[in-house]
Amino acid sequence: MTTHPTEKRSRFDPEPIARRDFLGLAALGSMFAAFALSLLGMLKLPKAAVSASPAKKFNVTLPDTLADGEAFIPPGRNVAVFRDAQGVYAISTICTHLGCIVKTSAAGFDCPCHGSGFQKDGAVRKGPAPKPLPWLKVSLNGSVLTIDEESTVKSGTKV
Ligand code: FES
Repeated sequence: MTTHPTEKRSRFDPEPIARRDFLGLAALGSMFAAFALSLLGMLKLPKAAVSASPAKKFNVTLPDTLADGEAFIPPGRNVAVFRDAQGVYAISTICTHLGCIVKTSAAGFDCPCHGSGFQKDGAVRKGPAPKPLPWLKVSLNGSVLTIDEESTVKSGTKV
């Protein structure tokens, strides 16, 4: 239905849109839709699988009930902390063979991966581990211990 240009059109009978204008609007709409969907896709990207490792220097307080020579392993750490009459010390629980985490045992430490065994002071009891478990630097601030997993000390160093 065509109307004269001066004739007033009804709200229910809008002016027909030209094909060129329609195609332009459709292209613009498609562009905005693509942009919005790409933004949505970016927001839903999975988080990185790699998480930051915890600081290598950390504080720990030994439980009062810890017996002499009994290992205390702070949660989330690869360190065994001991207390005896001579002082406090920390031994890394990372196997010196290929880096598995050793478990404490009656004899000291045992590696579940290839069977290495370590004495309570970290010395190699049974191979294939080539070196003893390293002793870590411990500083004492009141009752709080600061353990530095990146600093080793001579075996037998207690604070
Ligand atoms: S990693 Fe411990 S024995 Fe191989």
